Formats: sequence, structure tokens, C-alpha cells
Amino acid sequence: MTRSPTATGPTPSFDAAARAAEADLPTGPAKTELVRSMFDAIAPRYDLVNRLMTFGLDIRWRRQSTRALGLPAGSRVLDLACGTGDFVTILRDGGYRPIGMDLSWGMLAANHTGAPLAQANGAALPLATGSVDGVTCGYALRNFTELSAVFAELGRVVRPGGRISLLEVAEPEGGLMLVGHQIWFRRVVPLIGGLLSDRAAYRYLPRSTAYLPPTAALRSMLTEAGFSTVNHRLLSGGLSQLLTATRAGAR
Ligand SMILES: C[S@@+](CC[C@H](N)C(=O)[O-])C[C@H]1O[C@@H](n2cnc3c(N)ncnc32)[C@H](O)[C@@H]1O
Repeated sequence: MTRSPTATGPTPSFDAAARAAEADLPTGPAKTELVRSMFDAIAPRYDLVNRLMTFGLDIRWRRQSTRALGLPAGSRVLDLACGTGDFVTILRDGGYRPIGMDLSWGMLAANHTGAPLAQANGAALPLATGSVDGVTCGYALRNFTELSAVFAELGRVVRPGGRISLLEVAEPEGGLMLVGHQIWFRRVVPLIGGLLSDRAAYRYLPRSTAYLPPTAALRSMLTEAGFSTVNHRLLSGGLSQLLTATRAGAR
């Protein structure tokens, strides 16, 4: 995963198409179809493989991400790319009123949270402007075909003063953590995923980090989408990253 400075400086550019081509990954409608069919295929065992490959830390990261929203109880929160519903459950436990949306019917079918759900593409949300107080999104940024369009949609549907909390995979910055992570994430996880679920999907998982813009580019994309106070931090020594921001224009 490419790292970039988070300090101020020239607006960083990220050529998503070039990065995808370098990594021999699809773009455009071909990517959307690959992602949709892959998540349909892995939905039944998604939770099991997630717990194993993160030693259960994924739940802790979603809790941290939910706390970072910092909205009042009762707030309406969209969990975008909700998958099987882990975030929805944690949001509800935190006193929020979650709704979930996802591209994959298979993931939605495995979502037994009882929360209101809808099948939708994050780049065209079926929600009115300013209709939610906040958005969470777990491990989906690299899966979106049009990340700028998704951020623009978040800027549209979140009310002024509302909050977003976006969780993604990351990579430790160096040392033994990085070596261990490379072995685990790039070699062991595809093996476990292949044994318990879908081999192709869990081979794609580490490769898909090539789609992920570096921190500085993510920050500037969110600012362009109408968010302020964009904050980025690494969790558990860099195993995950959390981006939070506030919709500008608070009343
Ligand atoms: C790695 S899973 C994460 C699921 C869940 N957020 C979690 O934390 O476990 C990524 C999810 O993103 C969804 N997704 C991918 N592209 C999407 C899009 N364009 N719009 C909405 N959901 C999308 C997939 O269907 C999948 O459920």
C-alpha cells in the first residue's frame, strides 16, 4: 500500500485507473460486477473468516469507529456497504438508529439485524439530501468503483454538522509488525479464505489494497466532497485506519 505524507502540501493526485492497471485489476463496470459477485459468493462465511483473519479485532475496530462518530443518541446513521450487519448491531447498541445499504444481495441476505436495509450502490444513494445524521462504512472504500462519487453522495446525504466514520484496512509502517502483517495478510489469509470460503475472493482481498488512495488523497477527496475537520488515525499499530470528518456548514 502506498503511503503519503499527511502534512500540508500540494494536493496529492491519485490515478486510480493507472494503479488498477499496474496491479492487473479491473475498473469501471467490470470492477462493480466482480465485487458484487465476489461478495455474493463469500456472504455465507464472511463473518467466520473475518473473525479468524483479524483474531476478532475487527469488532473492536468497528466499536472504535462507532465511538468516533460522537453523535447524540437517537441519531439516524447510514451504514454504507453494511454487509452482514456487524456495524449495524454496534450502532444500535450505541443508541443510534441505523439503516444499512449494500450492493450485494448475498450480503444483505446474510444480514439478520432486523434494521431497515436497501440494495444500493454507494455512488447513487436512494436517500434525500441531508436526511442522515451520520454514516459509517467498514472496509469498503477500496471496493467502490467510483470513490469520488461515493464521497460526493456522503456529502449530499449527511446533514450539515453530521459526521462520517470510515474504516479501512491499512499496513503497519515498518519493522516486525510490517513483516508479520505481510505474511499474514498476503499469504495466510488467502489460504484460510480459500479453505473456508472462496479462493479467488480471498486472493483478491490483499490485491485490492492497490485501489486504496493514500491518506493525503483521501483527505483532499473528502474536503472536496464538503467535509471539514478530516481526521485520520491508524488502529492497532496500523492494522486498520479510521477516517472521520464533519459535514461542513453546521447550523
Ligand atoms: C469487506 S465488505 C465489508 C462489509 C461490512 N461493512 C463490514 O464491516 O464487515 C465490503 C462490502 O462493500 C460492499 N460494496 C462494494 N461495492 C459497493 C458499492 N458500490 N455500493 C455499496 N456497497 C458496496 C460489498 O457488497 C461488501 O458487502
